[in-house]
Amino acid sequence: MTAARHFLSLSDAGGDAITAMLADALDRKTARRGLPRGAADNDAPLAGHVLGLVFEKSSTRTRVSFDIAMRQLGGTALVLDSATTQLGRGESIKDTARVLSRMVDVIALRTDDHAKVEELAHYADVPVINSLTDLSHPCQIVADLLTVVERGKPLPGLQVAWLGDGNNVLYSVIEAAGLMQFTVRVASPAGYGPDEAVVALANRAGGNVTVTADPQIAAKGADVVITDTWTSMGQSHEEQKLRALAPFQVTANLMRLARPDAMFLHCLPAHVGEEVTEDVFEGAQSCVFDEAENRIHAQKSVLLWCLGKLAATS
Ligand code: CP
Ligand code: NVA
Repeated sequence: MTAARHFLSLSDAGGDAITAMLADALDRKTARRGLPRGAADNDAPLAGHVLGLVFEKSSTRTRVSFDIAMRQLGGTALVLDSATTQLGRGESIKDTARVLSRMVDVIALRTDDHAKVEELAHYADVPVINSLTDLSHPCQIVADLLTVVERGKPLPGLQVAWLGDGNNVLYSVIEAAGLMQFTVRVASPAGYGPDEAVVALANRAGGNVTVTADPQIAAKGADVVITDTWTSMGQSHEEQKLRALAPFQVTANLMRLARPDAMFLHCLPAHVGEEVTEDVFEGAQSCVFDEAENRIHAQKSVLLWCLGKLAATS
């Protein structure tokens, strides 16, 4: 039996496969324009396939987009909230992996400790997808890259500014910079920036990632400005952290330092008034709802890649 193709990080796929995913996602998005959202794509490449969607944390976009993605690929999805499964009562990841491998064709897990998704992949015979851990959120970044390329911005040489917390979403942005050869300028307060080893790894891979404490330096000339919540799931709402992050809020003044056609991205859910002002969030440069929709199109390509059905990467 060949080893299952897991997607725990963007590096599991690599730059060439991510390029193929983005092309396939754009083609499929264009080809199905006008169809009802639950209707299958013409080729229904995952007919008969089932995705098990396991959640140990809350979700709106990931949950709905994976379900709709499977319907559009001709398959189905089962949502398994840990609170209503035996996982929530202490059944091991190891046993859960071996049971689900006999029942579904692919598993996605949203959890806290990244080691859990690694353990699930280790014991599963079917592909495992990381649908967010405390370490990373690779599916989100495939959707973000899709949102950028569909506006005609090439990834190599792209200038991305990240403002705010050095969290799981940023980790995947930094990883993407190495794989797709773009620049990321991170502006975070001392103590809340990204792990130095993660930055060094992306730079060794060909990315250009720098970290500054000055939001203006990060934003100047950026093609894309990104932020995320200051309090991720599982973290407590700390006053000290919120005070430290306040100067890193994405404001209209900051957006004016970026390129005139700069895009504003946010994975959502947003806390408007904290990490971003309302005028930016609701403004003409905000692409956050295209980005949310693109979770469907991006994840279709991730699913196809995992199951060896993505053209040019099978
Ligand atoms: N962006 C994202 O992953 O959203 P959900 O938490 O709603 O899935
Ligand atoms: N950083 C956020 C992302 C939510 C999609 C969190 O982990 O809660």
